Amino acid sequence: MIKPTVFVTRVIPAKGLEMVREVCEVILWEDELPPPYDVLRSEAARTDGLLCLLSDRIDAALIQASPNLRVVSQMAVGFDNIDVTAATAAGIPVGHTPGVLTDTTADFAFALLMAAARRTGEGERLVHAGQWRTWGPTLLMGQDVHGATLGIVGMGRIGQAVARRARGFDMRVIYYDEFDVQLPAGISAERSSLEELYAESDFISLHTPLTPNTHHLINATALKQMKPSCVLVNTARGPVVDPKALYAALANGEIAYAALDVTEPEPIPPDDPLLTLDNCLIVPHIASSSIATRTRMAVMSAENLIAGLKGERLPYCANPQVYGT
Ligand code: DGY
Repeated sequence: MIKPTVFVTRVIPAKGLEMVREVCEVILWEDELPPPYDVLRSEAARTDGLLCLLSDRIDAALIQASPNLRVVSQMAVGFDNIDVTAATAAGIPVGHTPGVLTDTTADFAFALLMAAARRTGEGERLVHAGQWRTWGPTLLMGQDVHGATLGIVGMGRIGQAVARRARGFDMRVIYYDEFDVQLPAGISAERSSLEELYAESDFISLHTPLTPNTHHLINATALKQMKPSCVLVNTARGPVVDPKALYAALANGEIAYAALDVTEPEPIPPDDPLLTLDNCLIVPHIASSSIATRTRMAVMSAENLIAGLKGERLPYCANPQVYGT
């Protein structure tokens, strides 16, 4: 029997790749960097399925130029890089990996929050530079996490998981979400307006998807409403924060610290002014990167891909309307 052909746009954890290889002819892009758009487009045009990542642009032009494409499966929960409307119009289901990375990402948001609060990056740089001279009474004084107010923007799965962790630190949690959210028992958090959240939070953690409404949500106006001691954590998507406004706010002391897993653009260029600031901690979009979670994400994306190729409903579908239900 002829196997379907799929383009896998990066080397994913082996368990997922093996599942795909069992049922497909795999064209694998082995470079660490994403395939150039032209390559992605020409491979999509001759394959039955795509297994892609958030750094691959799957736009309307690519979808319309791919007559054989039956499924797009993304190894990520977010899918703002994919024109889902165009995929739906072409009858192509889009898979993603919700749920599986919730706790791993929430763990990491908390790791960033604590690292920024207690200035661990600066401490490590100081020690590595041979500048630890003695126990200093005022050395690298940071901010207490326990008892502080945490503002969560976007109270979906990951926002709620961060709120659960905050309980262990006796934090007061307030949240903003544009939708009504039914909070499960065990999460105690008060809904607030964005303005109240900016004004009252000692820590603000972003967990909203990137949409036209949330693009540069954190802009100069928002930053000016935050406390000068505020720590901003972003594990959502880079463009939710206006990077120029963030630089100005950090450099002028309008807020105290930012801890970013995601940036605009990604990767952040080495000459970006944010990299000159001691009060800005930046890591390379690794919040979901535990061995177990990345393996589960690869397996889920393989399951979605294989289901789509068989004409079955994707187990984790970003555009269920493609099925007319
Ligand atoms: C996602 O899945 O959307 C994360 O940003 C990467 O794990």
